[in-house]
Amino acid sequence: MKVLNFGSLNIDNVYAVDHFVRAGETLSSTSLKKHVGGKGLNQTVALARSGSQVYMAGKIGNDGAHLLEVLKKEGVNVDHIMVADYIDTGHAIIQVDKNGQNCILLYGGSNLEITREDVDEVLKNFSKGDFILLQNEISNLPYIIKKASEQGMTIALNPSPIDDDLVNMEELALVDWFILNEVEGLEISGKKDPEEICSEILRRYPGAHVMLTLGSKGAMFRDATRSAEHGIYDVPVVDTTAAGDTFTGYFLTGVAEGLEINKVLELASKASSLAVTKAGASNSIPMRNEVEETDMKLC
Ligand code: RIB
Repeated sequence: MKVLNFGSLNIDNVYAVDHFVRAGETLSSTSLKKHVGGKGLNQTVALARSGSQVYMAGKIGNDGAHLLEVLKKEGVNVDHIMVADYIDTGHAIIQVDKNGQNCILLYGGSNLEITREDVDEVLKNFSKGDFILLQNEISNLPYIIKKASEQGMTIALNPSPIDDDLVNMEELALVDWFILNEVEGLEISGKKDPEEICSEILRRYPGAHVMLTLGSKGAMFRDATRSAEHGIYDVPVVDTTAAGDTFTGYFLTGVAEGLEINKVLELASKASSLAVTKAGASNSIPMRNEVEETDMKLC
């Protein structure tokens, strides 16, 4: 069984600010740091650091060679990362405020140059029983889901960032694992209450599994036969960027390892709590032994 993450690779420009810039305001930042990021790349790092043997597919531009080097150092198979040398790599402008909260402006760049031919070329290396993890920062997402499903792959979707195209995508019916937050849950299900979000998604897609993260209220899991909840840990918040990506990568590793669902939630919750104690995106993702050995108290 292989784990493929077909997703975005970004260069993150992270600005420390007192507060998020307002309409019409000019605001000085107190620092600028450049990190490797992208929901795809971050989740790949989380998969690798949690112990999965992971393959990443995606597209970098003319300025993205260093992203490949970072992934290689993590032990990730990068054979399916393509290069579009006529365009910049995707990037993000991230403001992090004094409370560690962030807001993100994306430029898709090379992430939006993935063609159906690219998808066919990548997916022919994978087969029934392999996992594929997807987010919503690359082109041709519905086609990838359709092809992966035809090949019998197990499909996990983190529908982030959420948009109307994704909400209306008929291929949602082919997704096996939804890993999403309350905002994404509301957009997809039309329901606000967490329990109703899960039941509405399961009503539409009875064979699916729903992992719903609830911010400061923790996380809940529902499928046709199981339910589980988990709280959050009491940690100092430095930067919440990539906390969700850390949760997603660790969660999928736990699922792929066949761990009991409460154990999977505990692992993913601990990992994402540790991630918010450090600045940055992929660089803030903890190693599995750190997650297992750090003593943390639930709030
Ligand atoms: O989830 C955090 C990520 O979102 C950042 O690394 C940024 O690149 C955007 O994709």
